[in-house]
Amino acid sequence: MTTTEPLSTGGTDRTGYPDRTGTFHPFGDAAEEQRVRADDRAHVFHSWSAQAQIAPLPVAAGEGSTFWDYDGNAYLDFSSQLVNLNLGHQHPDLVRAIQEQAGRLTTIQPSMANDVRGELARRIAEVAPGELNSVFFTNGGADANENAVRMARRVTGRRKVLSMYRSYHGNTSTAIALTGDPRRWANEPSDGSVAHFFGPYPYRSAFHAASVEEEGQRALEHLEQVIELEGPQTIAAVLIETIVGTNGVLVPPPGYLKGVRALCDRYGIVYIADEVMVGFGRIGEWFAVDAYDVVPDLITFAKGVNSGYVPLGGVVISDAIAHFFDDVSFQGGLTYSGHPLACAAGVATFEVFERDGILERVRDLGSRIIEPTITGWLGSHPSLGEVRGRGLFWALELVRDRETHQPLVPFNAAGADAAPMNEVAAACKAAGVWPFTHFNRMHIAPPLVITEDELRRGLDVIDDALGVADRYAA
Ligand SMILES: Cc1ncc(COP(=O)(O)O)c(C=O)c1O
Repeated sequence: MTTTEPLSTGGTDRTGYPDRTGTFHPFGDAAEEQRVRADDRAHVFHSWSAQAQIAPLPVAAGEGSTFWDYDGNAYLDFSSQLVNLNLGHQHPDLVRAIQEQAGRLTTIQPSMANDVRGELARRIAEVAPGELNSVFFTNGGADANENAVRMARRVTGRRKVLSMYRSYHGNTSTAIALTGDPRRWANEPSDGSVAHFFGPYPYRSAFHAASVEEEGQRALEHLEQVIELEGPQTIAAVLIETIVGTNGVLVPPPGYLKGVRALCDRYGIVYIADEVMVGFGRIGEWFAVDAYDVVPDLITFAKGVNSGYVPLGGVVISDAIAHFFDDVSFQGGLTYSGHPLACAAGVATFEVFERDGILERVRDLGSRIIEPTITGWLGSHPSLGEVRGRGLFWALELVRDRETHQPLVPFNAAGADAAPMNEVAAACKAAGVWPFTHFNRMHIAPPLVITEDELRRGLDVIDDALGVADRYAA
């Protein structure tokens, strides 16, 4: 299939934006922008930040793959906000579904049955692999992981959970303990019964592997050693991102995930796939495990399930685990579990995906446009060490030296150390593209409804911006 038809796109003829009361303001209304900025700076305490060192961009409007600041500068959203905005800003079907749901039943507590909650759970079960047929809804990804771990612990009677270095699993106590990146450091000790292992990362192999296949094999041998040394009888679950997201779009080598499945089976360990970032179409599959032909015991999701229009996450549960709780009470719950507004947007997401062929579209745009374009850049940009990904989820690994793989900026760089990456990002923003950068990498993760023209335009901007990185490269 080729994708030529524009889907939901931000028009270029936008001249302003409505405020909360519906009053229209032309772009450039400095008083309005000042008001938004002042309230934010005086009263909003932001995530993961030194509060005096940030300058949040006041955003006036969003549509399709574009959002605008109060001066009317348009940004092509190449990070889908936090890689959650899969159907773009203000998708009319999702907005309508939320409005209609609000008009008939805004909320109902989780112990009652509700039509959209049930329909969304059924639709998720229908596309989930294997015998994963039950859904526990949460408010987001962290609490999805938190509850998945709780299920695994109860079912196995074991406590320890293994997860990867270079991972992010969320900001609740167990989820942040499972996280294998610097966001965990300030939050320790949290849940002590967590151990980390190295996943496959061929470009920066912890195993001195010479090929992708060898990397996968050695990473499995390492995982088995960790299981042995931690004590299989103490391990409730292995929890991994199917494709590691924020920490590098690390695509698993052929056979790796099947090997993880086999190890979990051998030692009676629950396999939890964290698909918070990669589920719901990001790589052109409902669930990313489908691309690797493996069936986990539990899959956690959030973000793309309804593009984050109303907070929603959850755990898809295998029949075996669900039946364990037939006569044993599951000790977990949330006031907003399966919130009707969020579920209505989730049902609408399924309708849009099916009607507009979103999964096929993602695979097509990824293989026909992104992959050949960015692979071609390896020939023209000395700062580009490697490109990897699939669907609409890619990483550009920026380096100072292609021989040694020395990253463009150090691991977890801040301040002056991070300047080269900040300059690349600034060049993108100045040319109207909002990029996703993390450490020495730029990720490409636009909304799945991005038009072909928008995608090519954004890639052209990144191509130019890489010229900034090239100046630091040997
Ligand atoms: C792979 C993964 N798991 C879990 C989370 C946490 O999700 P949330 O922020 O909705 O709690 C994230 C968030 O980025 C994520 O990328």
